[in-house]
This record gives sequence, C-alpha cells and structure tokens, in this order.
Amino acid sequence: MANFPKSVKVVEVGPRDGLQNEKTIMPAAVKIEFINRLSRTGLKTIEATSFVSPKWIPQLADATEVYTGIEKKPGVAYPVLVPNEKGMQRALDAGAREVSIFTAASETFNQKNSNCSIAESIERFKPVVTLAAKHNVRVRGYISTAIGCPYAGPIAPEAVARVAKELSDLGCYEISLGDTIGVGTPVKAQRMLAAVAAEVPMEKLAVHFHDTYGQALANIHACLELGVSVVDSSTSGLGGCPYAKGATGNVATEDVLFMLTGMGIETGVDTAKLLEAGRFISDALTRQPESKLGRIPADSRRDARTLGRQK
Ligand code: HMG
Ligand code: MG
Repeated sequence: MANFPKSVKVVEVGPRDGLQNEKTIMPAAVKIEFINRLSRTGLKTIEATSFVSPKWIPQLADATEVYTGIEKKPGVAYPVLVPNEKGMQRALDAGAREVSIFTAASETFNQKNSNCSIAESIERFKPVVTLAAKHNVRVRGYISTAIGCPYAGPIAPEAVARVAKELSDLGCYEISLGDTIGVGTPVKAQRMLAAVAAEVPMEKLAVHFHDTYGQALANIHACLELGVSVVDSSTSGLGGCPYAKGATGNVATEDVLFMLTGMGIETGVDTAKLLEAGRFISDALTRQPESKLGRIPADSRRDARTLGRQK
C-alpha cells in the first residue's frame, strides 16, 4: 500500500485566495460571517485575508477590518498573506499571529505578481521574518508556479526545490507548493514534490492545487501517496490569482473532504457544516457552489465513509 497519511491538515484558503479574485468585492461583513462559519466546521487553519497593496488587490483592501472583526476560535490559526515589511506591520497592528510570505519558482511570474525577482523577494522577507520572530508570529511560505507558469511554461522541479530550501532556511515552518494555473498532472506533481522533499522534510510541505484543468484531486492523491499531509483548498472552489491569466479556483474543500473521508483519512472537519459555509458564500456571490458535492441536492447527498445518506 502507498504511504498515505492517517490524518491530513486541511488549510482553508477561500477567504483569501478565493475572494482576492472576485470581480464583485464582498463587503467586510460577508467575509467576516464566512470566516466565522468556517471556524465552526472543525478546520484548524483558515487563511483570513491579505495585507498586500490595495492598489494591486482592491478586493482585500479591508484586511484590517476583516481580521479584527472575526471571532478567533481557540485552537484555530488565521494566517494572513504579507508581501513585505509594510504588510507585516499592518498585519501585526491588526493582531495577526501567523503570516504567509509568497514567492515563485518562475522569475517572470514573480515580476508580475510581486514586481520583483525571486532573489529580491527573499531579501524583502528578511525584515518580515525578523519582525515575526520578535513578535512570536509563525511564518508559512508559498511557492507559486511550482509546476507550470503562464509566461515561462514548464518549471523544473529543481527550481522549486531551490526556492523551498531558501524559504525553509529563512524560518518558514511550512511551505506550500502552488500549482497556480492548475496545469499539473499526477506524475508531474509527484516529481515536483519528490524533488522538494529531497531538500525540505515532507512534514514541512503542503500542496496547493488550483483546479483549472480538473486535475487537482488526482494531484492531491498522488502527493498523499508520497506522504504529504497538508492540503490547501478553498470552500466552494473559490479562487485564482489575479496576476496569473487563466488561473481559476482552488480545489474545493468539500470535494477534498469527500475524497479524504472515503480514504479513511481523518481531517476533523464536519463536511455538512462546511457545505453550509459554501452555500453561504455562493449565495453572497449569487452563483452556484463550484464544488461537486455542493451541487448534489442535500437530500440525495451520500456520506463518503458509509455511502449512506448524509445527515
Ligand atoms: P510595488 O508597486 O512594487 O510596491 O508592489 P512599492 O513598494 O513600490 O509600493 C507602491 C505603493 O503600494 C506605495 O503606496 C506603498 O506604500 C504601497 P503609494 O506611495 O503609491 O501610495 N504598499 C502597500 N500598501 C499596503 N500594504 C502593503 C504595501 N506594500 C506597498 N503591504 C507589492 C509590490 C509586493 C506591494 C505588490 O506587488 C503586491 O502587493 N503584490 C501582491 C499581489 C497579490 O496579492 N497576488 C495574489 C497573492 S499570491 C497568490 O495568490 C498565489 C498563492 O495562492 C499560491 C499559488 O496559487 O500559486 C499564494
Ligand atoms: Mg493560490
């Protein structure tokens, strides 16, 4: 049998990765209610918002209002994205206890997304991690375009491994490998993960698949097989990256839960409550839920473990 983990930490990124890419800007009150509902599902990590430049991402310009407005459930982490020292200061002022820094494996992508080279972004993160250490704040790292780039095409697994090592050396407790435009397929995903795991221990790695080509669940399964046990996903499949043309939503948390539950892998997340949170945000966005599970009528939905009707 493959080396599947017994339990998986699901990192919910919908309020950040999802809502950063919506044309209609959701009011802060809706974001707060969405995150509060997610907090009641059993999720242990919910990426709440991002303290990037509001000129670049106007959708999350209300980061301070959202972060200070949410109920912080004990035992749940609410990381926020920060691109630089200014963002870190804003995050600290709002009371953030965990931040995520982000760079890429593709130079061109990093220029488009952060207006700097990969090396410059690592330099920018140095004062961020210094401040984080001073305030006892945990730092997570992201690497975008870990498999393919909309500008540079295929990305060598070794390039991802190099950046992962740098983020690990910088002090990131976890590094999330982002297939930003969802072009990965299972064997490519495994090759990339294996190359990174040769530099950074598997326990420190997370996978972050966008589902643009419908490959995300297959890719997650392939990476679980290699022993990864942290999976990023987005309720109702919200998501994308405004600086990656063609990037659609993250894999839907509902569908990840169905797969993991069916495999007997524990997540601690209540699928029914998660579906309700997905319905809430889909209604607010006036659209159908993007998850497969969310589209099945509630009275005919089945439980992945028992195959009986879900209560
Ligand atoms: P820049 O324009 O080069 O920055 O952007 P700058 O330092 O020259 O500053 C320009 C203006 O922005 C100044 O204001 C700064 O004060 C202000 P002005 O003087 O013009 O009035 N500014 C800020 N304001 C608030 N908060 C800040 C901040 N920083 C500067 N933190 C910068 C460089 C990095 C700021 C910009 O490129 C940026 O914000 N980029 C973020 C883009 C982004 O958020 N992309 C999506 C997230 S990444 C993602 O989705 C991928 C991921 O999901 C993984 C995957 O799927 O691959 C994580
Ligand atoms: Mg993403």
